[in-house]
Amino acid sequence: MKISDLKLTVVGIPRHTGFVSKHVIVEIMTDEGVTGIGEMSDFSHLPQYSLDIVDLTTVLKTILVGKNPFDISLINKELLANFPEMMFYYEKGNFVRNGVDAALHDLAGKLLNTSVADLLGGRIKEKIKVCYPIFRHRFMEEVEENLQVVRTRFAEGFDTFRLYVGKNLDADEAFLDGVKNEFGSKVTIKSLDFSHLLSWKEAWQATKRLSKYDFQLIESPAVQNDFEGLQHFRLKVDHPVSEHVWSFRQQYEMIRHDSVDIFNISPIFIGGLTAARKAAAAAEVAGKGCLLGTTQELSIGTTSMAHLGASLANLNFTSDPTGPELYVGDVVKNPVKYENGYLLVPGRDKPGLGMELDWDLIEKYKVADLSWGQISVHQLQDRTSQTKA
Ligand code: LMR
Ligand code: MG
Repeated sequence: MKISDLKLTVVGIPRHTGFVSKHVIVEIMTDEGVTGIGEMSDFSHLPQYSLDIVDLTTVLKTILVGKNPFDISLINKELLANFPEMMFYYEKGNFVRNGVDAALHDLAGKLLNTSVADLLGGRIKEKIKVCYPIFRHRFMEEVEENLQVVRTRFAEGFDTFRLYVGKNLDADEAFLDGVKNEFGSKVTIKSLDFSHLLSWKEAWQATKRLSKYDFQLIESPAVQNDFEGLQHFRLKVDHPVSEHVWSFRQQYEMIRHDSVDIFNISPIFIGGLTAARKAAAAAEVAGKGCLLGTTQELSIGTTSMAHLGASLANLNFTSDPTGPELYVGDVVKNPVKYENGYLLVPGRDKPGLGMELDWDLIEKYKVADLSWGQISVHQLQDRTSQTKA
């Protein structure tokens, strides 16, 4: 059996906040008539240049067409040679590899009539605890809007939230105060996320101020690749510290410098399920915890993380994938399901990722390319459609 063709389709899907994220739907066809689907999720991150989708299709076809789809290791090796790691969190080559690797897993599962979780090592969990994101406050007036988000989502079953912080500490504090007064112990704040925007010392000062509120861990409290800074920060605070994995060199340095307690692992940022399993294994060997991160994927990307998380032995902190809850629409007939703040892993009876494309929805959200148009660095950093500077 051979891979016979590849198709990429770009969709632009607005979030409830108005921010539009562009994703690429991947289809990998075989000469036996079975198609695997994957997702290159959320290209709407810095750096502000875009990939040419026609050219990317040609390049990926030269790598994939003619290969046996079960040769996932070989294909990953070639993908890595063509889309190398760049030591940058939002490196687009990792997004490309992730979409292809997910489609290969979906294909293998469909061909073997087996669910992807079962291909990856089976199930320790059938559901994964997740938290809902509260995006970064820049203005005081956003505090009440975000408290309303907590009210709405709490009513839907989400009892755990994470908060992006560090641009307006008065607003961060007012929000945490509001949550504490209104919900008390009914709502848990999983993390304060500094998104690498502050130096470790600035993040430490901010943490001291916000530490009168309860939260479980602190994420990305230093600039990208400041391994020593993370370690200094980690030794000063009581809370566990987490950081994303975006390259194996970076993960190695974080292990070597004992920079973190928890690795935030997302297939999108490390370049696929194959790479994410390797990163989780490295964390396990180093005696570190894991959580599943997110870029805010659609259902295909999110379900692929559900399959991954089901089989991880060291997934011991609340995870982040809630993308499908953030967008106004999706591209599948059977979106992922959340129940009481848990992401459900599709059943064993569903081959592959268990997702079916909905072409009416794809037509609705289809856009020509990954071009940017007009958007500011603030909007990209804070995931907002709000243009106030
Ligand atoms: C998002 O798109 O909202 C996230 O990827 C933001 C983040 O944490 O990088
Ligand atoms: Mg994202």
